[in-house]
Parts: sequence; C-alpha cells; structure tokens
Amino acid sequence: MTRLVQLKGVKLVEASLQSPKDGVSMKFVTLVSIVAALGGLLFGFDTAVVSGAVGFMEERFHLSELQVGWAVSSLIVGCIVGAAMSGVASDRFGRKKVLIFAAILFIIGSIGSAIPDTFTGYIIARMIGGIGIGFTSTLCPLYNAEIAPAKYRGRLVAFNQFATVTGIFLTYFINSGIAGYGDHAWDIENGWRWMFGVGAIPGVLFLILLFFVPESPRWLIKQGRPAEALPILIRIHGEEAAKQEVHDIKASFSQESGSLRQLFKPGLRLALIVGVVLAILQQVTGINAVMYYAPEIFKATGAGTNASLYQTILVGFINFAFTILSLWLIDKVGRKALLLVGSASMTICLLAIGIAFHTGHTSGPLVLIFILLYVASFAVSLGPVVWVILAEIFPNRIRGRATAIASMALWAADYVVSQSFPPMLSSFGAASTFWLFGAMSLITVLFTWRVVPETKGKSLEEIESLWTQGARKSS
Ligand code: BGC
Repeated sequence: MTRLVQLKGVKLVEASLQSPKDGVSMKFVTLVSIVAALGGLLFGFDTAVVSGAVGFMEERFHLSELQVGWAVSSLIVGCIVGAAMSGVASDRFGRKKVLIFAAILFIIGSIGSAIPDTFTGYIIARMIGGIGIGFTSTLCPLYNAEIAPAKYRGRLVAFNQFATVTGIFLTYFINSGIAGYGDHAWDIENGWRWMFGVGAIPGVLFLILLFFVPESPRWLIKQGRPAEALPILIRIHGEEAAKQEVHDIKASFSQESGSLRQLFKPGLRLALIVGVVLAILQQVTGINAVMYYAPEIFKATGAGTNASLYQTILVGFINFAFTILSLWLIDKVGRKALLLVGSASMTICLLAIGIAFHTGHTSGPLVLIFILLYVASFAVSLGPVVWVILAEIFPNRIRGRATAIASMALWAADYVVSQSFPPMLSSFGAASTFWLFGAMSLITVLFTWRVVPETKGKSLEEIESLWTQGARKSS
C-alpha cells in the first residue's frame, strides 16, 4: 500500500511538473530541487531515529529521566545554533558552500553518535549533527525558493518537507528492522549504534550530489557576479526570460539597503512578524508532541506496546501521504487557503482528542482517528506551507539572515514543546494539554486570516514589493 502511494505520488509530482510551453526547464530545476531536498531527508531521519534508539540507550547508559529528555533534545539545541548561524554564513559564503559544510557536520554527527562509550560523547556528536540540521532546515528550502520559477516555487520548496516526512517514515522502518535483527542484549550494546550510524549513508550521498548543483543565482547577483548567474538562469527560464530575471533581481537589490535594520521598518516588519509567528505556531500547535511521543500517547489510551508501535507507523504513513497531496495543492489553491483549512481542521481534532481524554472515552479507536486526522491536516498545511513561506517572504539581500531568525524561532519553540510535553501531561493532564494545542491552532486560523498574504504565483521580487507597497499605503 505504501509503495502504491509512493509511486502515485512520484507520478503526480512528475505530471504536475511538465511545462513545455513556458520555456522553463523543469527537468533541470526539479533535479536541482531534489538534491537540495535531500537535506530534508536528513532532517526527517534525525527527527525520528532517536525514538527507536533511546530505550536501548537508557539501559546501556543507565539514564535518568532527565538524561532521556536530553538524549532527545540535544539535537534540537544544535539545530537552534545551526539555524542561528545559517543566515550570516550563507549570505557571506553562499548557499552551496554552507550546505556542503552542513553535510559534513551531519556525517560527523551520525558516526559520532554511533561510536561513543560515554553518554557525554553521544550528546556532543548529536549536537554537531544538530548544527548541520539547523543549517539544512533553513537553507534547503531557501535555496530551492531562489532557484525555482515563481509558478512552481511552492511545490519545489515543499519537496523539502516531502523529503522530511519520507525520512521520518523510512526511519521508523529502519529502526524496527535494526531492533529486530538481534536479541535484546545486542540492541542494548549495538542496535542503537547502527540506528544512528546508517544516517551517514544519506549524508554522504547528499554531500556528493551537492557538488553537482549550481550556486543560487540570486546570491551570485548579490555578490556582484551576474555573469555567473546568467547561464544558470538561462538553464532555468530560457534565454529571454533569464535576462529579464537578472534585471528584476538587480533592481530589487538597488531598492534594498541589505541591512537587517530594514526588517524592523514598517512594511518589512510585517514580513518578520509573519515569519516568526508562523514558525512558532507551527510548533506550539503540538505536532512534535505527536511525532516524538506518539507511542507514549497511544499507550495512555490503553494500547499495548506492539499496537502503539503500529499506530506510530500509521502516523508516519498519514504524514507522508498527505504531504504528497499538499505538494499538488500548494501552487493551485495557494498557501493561505491550505493554512486556513488545515489549521481549522487541526483545531477541531485537538478539541475532540481533549474531549475523549476528559470524558475517559479513550479505549475505542476515536483517539487514534482524531490523531491521524490531526496529522493529515498538519501535513497538508502548516508542515510544508510554513517552510515555503519562510523561504519566500524576505527580500533578496537579507533573505538568508531573515529566514534564519524565523527558523531559529521555530527550533526554539520545538525545544520548548518537546521538553514541556511530558511534565504538562503529568501536571495538567492529557485533555488540557491537547486543548492548549487546540487554542494555538485557533490562533493560527485567526492570524492567517487577518495577517498572512497570499504569495502563490508571485516572483520573489514581486513579493518583496508587496510589503513595501503595503507600508506606503498605510503611511
Ligand atoms: C516540522 C517538524 C516536524 C515535521 C513533521 C516539519 O515541518 O518543522 O518540526 O517534525 O514537519 O512532519
């Protein structure tokens, strides 16, 4: 069944990328975007791998509850650092070089997490890998946005999210395959090491492929190297449109100061608010409480260990399948419509899950059904759309640094939610915790409705002038 959906998904993506008439070389753009999206696969791998490994590590290193939490969240601390540095580094050295550096960090992190004999050694390696993920999670969508023609940008940037959920889903299987390979003693001594270690394979693949993709043409023009940008733009848009692109990109630079202070002036200030608030809302609506703790949630409904693991795989599958749907919809119905429908549906699901826990009706399939609906709603909306919006709403000159600020906010919010979820469950109870996530989803609906602009089909330069025009009108 999974394979069927996978095949259908690929066909769907391929079919929707045919555009022979408008001079756009979708083959080139798609290949480049797929390479960059591999960074998303690493992101997904690292999100999911620890859920399978942590139980064995707990026994191997005799971890306390606090240390178990640290085993999970050390990666996120690395991500916050990586995201924070990604902007300055990529505005200065270029998107490609920093992605290559990130791939190296990821490989070191994977191998380093697999070999240590001390818990501290593991934590250090996980943080190094986390820095790599902080870089890739910010720069892969951004790079794709800078390469893609406006008409297909949503879909191409959302490839990244598709790769992330594929990474999560595959890793659930790899984890269970490795755990099943040996007996319990082998798992405690070696199983978890293999789980982390196999991450080096996609890491090396990503590293090699990165050498074959071009630097971002927008970044090259920013560096005053339009002669290098032009052949890349010609490959993407065809001869005529490429010259116009160079002209538009140059024009956008002449209107920007390039200073981050720009972001705090009316107009772009709104872009910053949209980016940071959406980044935080993506996390405080609870997705990673489900991603990181799904088996525990299902056990709380009375499911046995095996049933709860199967249900977790189902969560991964639904996340994967609905992300494919989102790829198809994002450039058709637009970012705003997806966000509105998705977050409204998340609100209803979270309300229902809360009611089920509150009234004690948790033994039937109700909780599972609503959690799956919740994940589906996230996968079609907040999951991909937030990363797409973050990659496209900021001006050319400061895009790297501005996206990094929002991405850092996202990882920090992820850290807070993943750390506070278990204590919240025990002190406030499951019902209130899910209702709180529900309230945040409702805020997402209102915020999107009132504040978030539609960016579908606009070039990055048009989006830029959207903010400045808005500011002129309101002043
Ligand atoms: C989020 C991650 C989350 C993943 C789940 C991403 O968009 O940023 O925090 O784990 O979606 O699919």
